[in-house]
Amino acid sequence: MDNKRLGRYDRIYTQLEGLLAKSPNLLAAMATICAVLHHKMKHHSWTGFYLLEGDELYVGPYQGLVACQVLKGQGVCLACVHENRAQVVPDVHAFPGHIACDSRTKSEIVLPLVVEDRVVAVLDIDSLEVAAFAKEDIAPLTRILSLLDPFLNEIS
Ligand code: SME
Repeated sequence: MDNKRLGRYDRIYTQLEGLLAKSPNLLAAMATICAVLHHKMKHHSWTGFYLLEGDELYVGPYQGLVACQVLKGQGVCLACVHENRAQVVPDVHAFPGHIACDSRTKSEIVLPLVVEDRVVAVLDIDSLEVAAFAKEDIAPLTRILSLLDPFLNEIS
């Protein structure tokens, strides 16, 4: 990953650290992460959270076009839940079972939000560019997600 993107992640982290110190709850904190990430990272076409309810994922705060409200049975987000690890998908058409909420999406990254070894939600980011995300995006995005830790008691 180029240093420019790493620097941008750093600045986003610092900004969110300040903003989330004033967040009243998990929902507000998630919404704030989506807004900052989506508008600062120009290659994102959709940035949002899905929350696990039983075997299904329900959409949470997001930025971008209207998305699927419920994900079930298959898809990149549920793969992230089942495997409890980040998914980097350079070409969504090559991912069996990918769920296309926006048919223009070309690549995707999904990161788990974990409470006591259990995935409770995911952060899903889409791009209209092929291979917009790499393994190197996982660490800085996970660091940003760690800012939600103080709020996770709300859904544990
Ligand atoms: N592509 C996801 C569905 C969510 S939308 O991209 C916002 C998936 O396959 O799980």
